[in-house]
Amino acid sequence: MTGADREGSRSIDAGEYRVIIGAGLRYDYARRIVAAAPAYNYVVITDDMVGARYAEPLGVDLARHGRVSSYRIPAGEAHKTRDSWARLTDSMLAGGCGRDTTVVALGGGVVGDLAGFVAATYMRGVPVVQCPTSLLAMIDASVGGKTGVDTGAGKNLVGAFHPPAVVLIDVETLATLPPAHRRAGLAEAIKHGVIADADYFERIDADLAELLEARPAAAAECVARSVEIKSAIVRADPRERGLRRTLNFGHTLGHALEHVSGYALLHGEAIGIGMVLEARLAERIGVAPAGTAERIGAVLRRAALPVERPRSLAPEAVLEATRLDKKARGGAVTYALPSGIGGMAGEERDWSIEVGDALVREVLA
Ligand SMILES: NC(=O)c1ccc[n+]([C@@H]2O[C@H](COP(=O)([O-])OP(=O)(O)OC[C@H]3O[C@@H](n4cnc5c(N)ncnc54)[C@H](O)[C@@H]3O)[C@@H](O)[C@H]2O)c1
Ligand SMILES: [Zn+2]
Repeated sequence: MTGADREGSRSIDAGEYRVIIGAGLRYDYARRIVAAAPAYNYVVITDDMVGARYAEPLGVDLARHGRVSSYRIPAGEAHKTRDSWARLTDSMLAGGCGRDTTVVALGGGVVGDLAGFVAATYMRGVPVVQCPTSLLAMIDASVGGKTGVDTGAGKNLVGAFHPPAVVLIDVETLATLPPAHRRAGLAEAIKHGVIADADYFERIDADLAELLEARPAAAAECVARSVEIKSAIVRADPRERGLRRTLNFGHTLGHALEHVSGYALLHGEAIGIGMVLEARLAERIGVAPAGTAERIGAVLRRAALPVERPRSLAPEAVLEATRLDKKARGGAVTYALPSGIGGMAGEERDWSIEVGDALVREVLA
């Protein structure tokens, strides 16, 4: 369900909340935050990269509506921790924020997950408004209500489901996103095409140059379709008992590659390689037609994303790392596999297909 409002922005119904997408929407963030989650205190959480560019005008606008406090964490996954969570909540307590507080997450997925977890837990839960500024956060992290932090034992291991009051997406902010992160975000958009919409997959391919340059019109189209696809899946299966697992396409091997690389690979880069390898698995076990992996790889290559396992990452180590995955079920590693471009296989098996080690070794070789 997509509608265009007065200002030419789009509004997508994600179930409990709406996702608003527009070019220049940041000039209207404050009004929309206040409309969706009115409060006495507004707490803006951002990182130093995003904060330096976009936090001050938002603080000024919000100050017309209530008390505003702004907090900046250093940029990067290394700061998505319980330690950052403790510092933020301590500061909010010291600053006198009561239950009448709305948290605003302004940044990429790191800020979104951390600020969302702060909101989920502060005084047993206060509203959060997600204002994602990276492509990955716009099409993936800000939609679906998962929040959390990393621990020494792994990523996202401590967290909560806490859907936002509203998601506000200004595609113009992508202009300042480093190109490597634009490409990495595109890998997840390509994933949405593979799992649910062959036409969308083709459109991403056709619009690649404009998407890589972060042209607002092309970006808005792409973000809107990806948000529709992800939110429809999440609405059908909020707690990942079945259909939501299809979003894990490329992620069993992708996460393993990311882990073995010591996180030198960006998430989207690892997921791109993971999609090609897992599509090969799908072809070998006969659920997807020959050529599926090649078609996915061709688009990724044009987006200047890697498609092969880096030689430095040993196949045995990658295979071993798949067993650490949260998706491993009773010891057996399962995969979400495509039935071609635009659909997924394995509905009768709750969308998770067990694949033997021998075959995984073959595609990793
Ligand atoms: N909750 C979920 O469902 C979900 C889904 C997918 C990913 N995630 C999480 O998202 C995180 C990754 O998100 P990410 O890729 O956005 O990483 P990120 O938040 O680290 O952002 C990437 C880099 O880009 C910078 N940046 C972001 N927007 C910018 C902009 N407009 N201009 C300039 N610089 C900008 C950031 O400061 C950072 O340095 C991971 O922690 C992952 O676990 C969560
Ligand atoms: Zn992902």
